[in-house]
Amino acid sequence: MNPVDLIAKKRAGEVLSETEIQWWIAAYTSGEVPDYQMAAMAMAICFQGLNRQETTLWTAAMRDSGEPISFGDRPGFRIDKHSTGGVGDKISIPLAPIIAALGLQVPMISGRGLGLTGGTLDKLESIPGYRTDLDLQTFRSTVTTIGCSIIGQTGQLAPADRMLYALRDVTATVSSIPLIVSSILSKKLSEGLDALVLDVKFGSGAFMSSFEQAEELARALVDVSRANGVACSALLTDMNQPIGRCVGNALEIVESIEVLRGQGPADTWELTERLAVRMLRIAGEANHDDEAKEAVQAVVQSGRAMARFAAMISAQGGDARIVENTELLPQAPKVEAISAGIAGQLTAVDARAVARAGHCVGVGRERADQAIDFAVGIEWLVEPGEQLDKDSIIARLHWRERGRDQAVAHLRSALCFDGDIRPRTGRVRAEVS
Ligand code: URA
Repeated sequence: MNPVDLIAKKRAGEVLSETEIQWWIAAYTSGEVPDYQMAAMAMAICFQGLNRQETTLWTAAMRDSGEPISFGDRPGFRIDKHSTGGVGDKISIPLAPIIAALGLQVPMISGRGLGLTGGTLDKLESIPGYRTDLDLQTFRSTVTTIGCSIIGQTGQLAPADRMLYALRDVTATVSSIPLIVSSILSKKLSEGLDALVLDVKFGSGAFMSSFEQAEELARALVDVSRANGVACSALLTDMNQPIGRCVGNALEIVESIEVLRGQGPADTWELTERLAVRMLRIAGEANHDDEAKEAVQAVVQSGRAMARFAAMISAQGGDARIVENTELLPQAPKVEAISAGIAGQLTAVDARAVARAGHCVGVGRERADQAIDFAVGIEWLVEPGEQLDKDSIIARLHWRERGRDQAVAHLRSALCFDGDIRPRTGRVRAEVS
């Protein structure tokens, strides 16, 4: 096949065939199609799109560019959750052991943080000894015996996505919905899943700022996952305000442990529970939402979910004593109470400003190869509806040596005093199934 003809075909808005898509992705993965031709194709897709059938085929070809994980004839229903990413989004960490304690299996391949968005892997790596680079055999056996394992992407999983994602990043082609859908799903559909539940976020702290864009993305993700044989549904959730009180790697592990003790912040518990309920329902483990909710609450209250979390940490080389003693996690040398500096009734907390504050003290990274500081971050202390005076303490800043003054300015700019009070609970705005 001639790559130039295929680029021209897509540029003219024509539909690519199954054979053409399969050839294209295989040739890109092998190096026969170079980056500059893939960049031209990605730009043509940005303008002309891919229809659902093409997106389904493109996703399958990307998944098959590597070696998808197979659980063969090992028993069990395998399910995962994917979030499009947000500020303080640690939900995967308590959710996976809750679902494992309920008898399902969660083979979760997760990502690292970049820019303002945190990553589950970075949070887990703040646990002393925790390894996110298990070989696939150990990963499979951890999933089968404990019920959950969370690791990073390996070279064998969807290599075409790793290549294309880096290329999209530098060619202004990230924002195309079919390319986002195939990127997310090529990795998730490599996990050997029976079902997938998505948390698609919108708002100032999300990848998609508007509800309408997020809804379009959720619809496409659900359709393409199903067309590739994996049951799927999505929640559309508000990401204008940070999730929970903590933003920062080790701090978010502490908050995850609180959730597993049944004591986490209301919004964090609510989101964890809503996603767990969707997972149980899609797996056919509950006939209605109330029954699923009761089951979720029971495994948390009995300590069974926490026990799974500790078992997963141990299986991955980590120090499971952190579930009893969170002081074993990295601690920042300086913890400072930050005042509001202004009086008024708080109506909302801006997620993006809180993320920026975290970034200033070293929570995240600018480039994929940068080291991050596990110990630093923010504990947010005030809720919408509270009346603040200028000395009210709004947050505790955990910091080391850099970024303190800018972080304080961002934390204060996160305070919103206009409009109606917007509670942080009740984030789930719609469901796509
Ligand atoms: N996350 C991904 O994995 N891929 C995208 O294209 C966007 C978000």
